[in-house]
Amino acid sequence: MRQWPDDRIAFGGDYNPEQWPREVWDEDVRLMADAGVSFVTLGVFSWSWLEPTKGEYEFGWLDEVMDLMHRHGIAVDLATATATPPPWLSAAYPEILPVDREGRTLWPGSRQAWCPSSPLYRDFALALTDRMAARYHDHPALAMWHISNEYACHNLPCYCDTCAATFRRWLERRYTTTDALNHAWGTAFWSQRYSDWDDVLPPRLSTTFNNPTHVLDYSRFGSDTLLDFFLAEKEVIRRHSPDVRVTTNFMTMSTFRLLDYHDWAPHQDVVSTDHYVVDALEHPRAELSFHGDLTRGLAGGAPWILMEHSTSAVNWQPVNPAKLPGDTLLDSLTHVARGADTLGFFQWRQSRSGSEKFHSALVPHAGEDSDRFREVCELGAVAGRLGELVGSRVEADVAILWDFEAQWAVAGPCMPSAALDYATAAHAVHRLLRDRGVTCDVVHPDADLSRYRVVVVPTLYIVSDDAASAVAAAAEAGAQVLVTYFSGISDPDDHVRLGGYPGAFRELLGVRVEELFPLRVGEQVALEGGGSGTVWSEDARTLDAEVLHTYADGPLAGRPAATRRPVGEGAAWYLGTLPDDDTLGALVEQVVAAGGVAPAAEAPAGVEVVRRSSADGSWLFVLNHTDTDTTLTVAGHDLVSGRDVGPSTTVAARTAAVIREA
Ligand code: GAL
Repeated sequence: MRQWPDDRIAFGGDYNPEQWPREVWDEDVRLMADAGVSFVTLGVFSWSWLEPTKGEYEFGWLDEVMDLMHRHGIAVDLATATATPPPWLSAAYPEILPVDREGRTLWPGSRQAWCPSSPLYRDFALALTDRMAARYHDHPALAMWHISNEYACHNLPCYCDTCAATFRRWLERRYTTTDALNHAWGTAFWSQRYSDWDDVLPPRLSTTFNNPTHVLDYSRFGSDTLLDFFLAEKEVIRRHSPDVRVTTNFMTMSTFRLLDYHDWAPHQDVVSTDHYVVDALEHPRAELSFHGDLTRGLAGGAPWILMEHSTSAVNWQPVNPAKLPGDTLLDSLTHVARGADTLGFFQWRQSRSGSEKFHSALVPHAGEDSDRFREVCELGAVAGRLGELVGSRVEADVAILWDFEAQWAVAGPCMPSAALDYATAAHAVHRLLRDRGVTCDVVHPDADLSRYRVVVVPTLYIVSDDAASAVAAAAEAGAQVLVTYFSGISDPDDHVRLGGYPGAFRELLGVRVEELFPLRVGEQVALEGGGSGTVWSEDARTLDAEVLHTYADGPLAGRPAATRRPVGEGAAWYLGTLPDDDTLGALVEQVVAAGGVAPAAEAPAGVEVVRRSSADGSWLFVLNHTDTDTTLTVAGHDLVSGRDVGPSTTVAARTAAVIREA
């Protein structure tokens, strides 16, 4: 396989030279050298510049850029340019346009306006991919192939007639008979029984709630359809270019929920993803850390590529504040701490025109004489000094289970609470463990759980029998298993497991829930002995578990809110509500202590600590998100400052250290 730059944390981002006159390219390479840029992603949205009219190609400019990159030692992650069709294509074939749930066509004029099922669009995209791969497969600058861009962004789900026909074929493969479909979808309800595949439609806007399993299957279908498209492009590339790694950039940030990346990840030669800090979140930096752990889980623990993040503001939130001094370093190093070996940004040079002209970049509108560009150069230098840890791994003794299908199901129609968010419990537990220096892997329920001392099962609403058994087996074998509210309720067809919730985990937890009591937005329920719960509560009765917390008021006063049951060599803990941070923090501390899990280092809350290690050594990341300096007991060499440190180390407010431990 062709090498990705690995003498440093690869540093660079999307480069869109077609937006600029030729003379700017020379300035670009000069500034790239100043900034320590070692890779660029080319061509993501270049189709109309490569094929301006049908069958007429203009590769000259891209040849020149590829050569320029090679002359300056910059590796190229080359996109297939198939993310957005040129205007001539959608004008000639409007049937490729996606259609929303209400039957409205999504017209070209922005980007990614194509139907995921369209065979026509696929043919044109594969033809371009073939051209690209044939032309550039042996170019010396080529170091990776980047297929499409953020699949599903903007054009999924599509509800058009082509999708309807493709969905029927997908259903036939999944169920074989309409009887099996009828059983899975529970079509005895509301007279929905199908006797002919042709009668099945996408879950388009209806009079009221669509059938939830129909909706769930439509999410599965959308993810599978795009994966199939990705594999078709990959196959075309492989024919020309068998020795260059292929990836597509995921969106593992928790606001994006359209693809089941657990299915996609095994098909990537290296997992890559994009992340942007979402200002409206209550804990945006904790979400950033979670995203890193989730991405590493998708990569099977291997290092991954952060293909895009931002040096400062984005342009797609209602209000887009600039990042504060220190934010960029802290954000970037958080990704590295959690397993990224590449730091990519959108984009190299801030655009002058178009929809993203107010999105930050490595070179801002102000130009090289700016604090932002000086900060970029410093970050590039730090990335260079981190080269020694490339390939090292993040070690974690705690697993948090994450399942995109359960997320889809929780977000489905007519649930007990539309305010319940699948991610809330997972994020809360992860954040409170992060505050305590405990690193988690975020993994699929089918992952090998045997090596974890603690397994957290947050809101795993649908779960297969096998996955539920694996959780129980982990407890038997010695793990501390913490199962939160609204888990184990349904099977993968979203049929409720009968006999009392949480059906799949009832025996393991020794708890039986008779009725669900979701809390209203803003409602709190008091807990005996102090503290409170929000979001959710359940009418739980213990079968053979010890009660840790009970509700102190409300309809469930006196009923258990948290319990523990010894199981084999381990234990099963149940949590029926979302406690306040102090209460939940104390509980997770108890759980990890019972599991014998130690923090990466002793550090105050707000100072994030993570360790990466390899046969060559170990590196402690200290990310001080607070406004005060912090001192830790650690000795070694700090790769950020380039100084030896110890026996204790002070990390200044809002800055970071990466210490090769002595
Ligand atoms: C990503 C996309 C980039 C750019 C960026 C802005 O979703 O891949 O092309 O639009 O967002 O934040």
